[in-house]
Amino acid sequence: MSDRLSMYILTDTHYLSKKMWVEGAPVNSREMGDQIAIKSTPEILRSFFKKILADKEAEYVLITGDLINNGDRISHEDFIEELKVLTDAGKKVLVTAATHDYAGLGDDENIFHPVYYRENGCEPAERVYKTELPSLYYDFGHCYADSIDSESGSYSVPLGNGVRLIAIYDNGNGRSHCGLFDEGFNWLEAEIKKANERREWVVLAVHHPVIPPWPVYKGIAEFELFGGYEKLSKIMCENGVRVIFTGHTHVQGIKKYEDSEGRYFYDITTSALPSAFGRMRKVVFDKKEGTCSVESIGIETIDGIDTKGMSARDYIYSLNFIGLIEKSLPLMDTDWESFCYNTDRVFSVPFLRKHPFISKTAVKLFLKIPMSIVGRFGRKAGGVTKEDIKYLKNIRVFDSLVKIISSVFGGNGPYPPHTPEYRAFTGGAIRGMKLLKVFGIDIDKIVPGDETALETMKHFLYNDRTGDDNSIIIDMERK
Ligand SMILES: [Fe+2]
Ligand SMILES: [Fe+2]
Repeated sequence: MSDRLSMYILTDTHYLSKKMWVEGAPVNSREMGDQIAIKSTPEILRSFFKKILADKEAEYVLITGDLINNGDRISHEDFIEELKVLTDAGKKVLVTAATHDYAGLGDDENIFHPVYYRENGCEPAERVYKTELPSLYYDFGHCYADSIDSESGSYSVPLGNGVRLIAIYDNGNGRSHCGLFDEGFNWLEAEIKKANERREWVVLAVHHPVIPPWPVYKGIAEFELFGGYEKLSKIMCENGVRVIFTGHTHVQGIKKYEDSEGRYFYDITTSALPSAFGRMRKVVFDKKEGTCSVESIGIETIDGIDTKGMSARDYIYSLNFIGLIEKSLPLMDTDWESFCYNTDRVFSVPFLRKHPFISKTAVKLFLKIPMSIVGRFGRKAGGVTKEDIKYLKNIRVFDSLVKIISSVFGGNGPYPPHTPEYRAFTGGAIRGMKLLKVFGIDIDKIVPGDETALETMKHFLYNDRTGDDNSIIIDMERK
């Protein structure tokens, strides 16, 4: 028997069956306002599956929730057919579901309602209920389990080679508490302890993250974290569980949590599969080395979609969010209406339509601002050098901001401390905040969470957490 056991991890596939939409404003508007390419989710999924199928070593595929986009029955049925391609090829597929996978019943906080996207509007579609999900996906979870939590549907699977996966189904009300209740926690802790007695390595998987992508996230939206994240962190530390795989935020990230006694674990969260920065993780458990190694794999092209020669990343990026604005900039002079329409999909700015001349002039001026202006402004505070200024003259503030915003989802921020952009941005921020204080405005008090505004900003400039959001090697042996 090999010492290695490997598994692919995907998340937030947000699958939308082709039967659920026709071309028209409703589906296009939905896609443009999101960070994922809703309409192309089947083709993107298959392009990733092609890579998995080509890898003969990997035995398992794990998908951690938001399997489909809107809680409708047809998308689940078609998604299951897609999964069968993997199982027919001999892979074992394990899933957990999350809030996008079922519809709100009106007695919980889940806001997702299944719809057909018709040409001129939406129509209700047949829903899937939360309680149905574990049995709907029986062949992709419970059938491999030797223990199941009857309340949440969470399950425990011996993967082989002394590695155990405990896949947690988020229980709760669909929004402000997506996690476990006391009974679920009791089952989970007992499972971990049993596995420890057998000297198995325990790996956890759940949709909602246990550690926020950045501390400020907790301050803004603590409810987006796993319901009971503090309790789960304690259980993991006390029982030597080194890793949990999560999704939900659509952010690519690897974060370490360490308690006051130096016990630690990693939360490895993966970007949404159909996003511009969509990747899957390949995880290898190596018993001989005592490690769990993680790498990230994307797709270069999307099979079955005419991307007009664009890479998968560029095609998806151009469809929605910040990429849509970037793509729309040339329209400012030629088609102001389309420019406003596209920006409206990302954030609504009624001022743009009401005052086209002022808006156009302001946007154009902003686009011309070179980074050297920021560098000069924060020269002293940021330690910006003459060489930095020379370099920054050729870089637009807009482009640097786009790089930072893009990296929010892709991980690994673009400007580590040795870069001129880092010195310019931090210096500019320090001086700017000092000036604002003169007028009685304290940015540190405005930014949510315990950190200063500068500390918060640095998290977005570069990866100051584990050094890499795409790969890591974790020591799995208990100390
Ligand atoms: Fe999601
Ligand atoms: Fe989610």
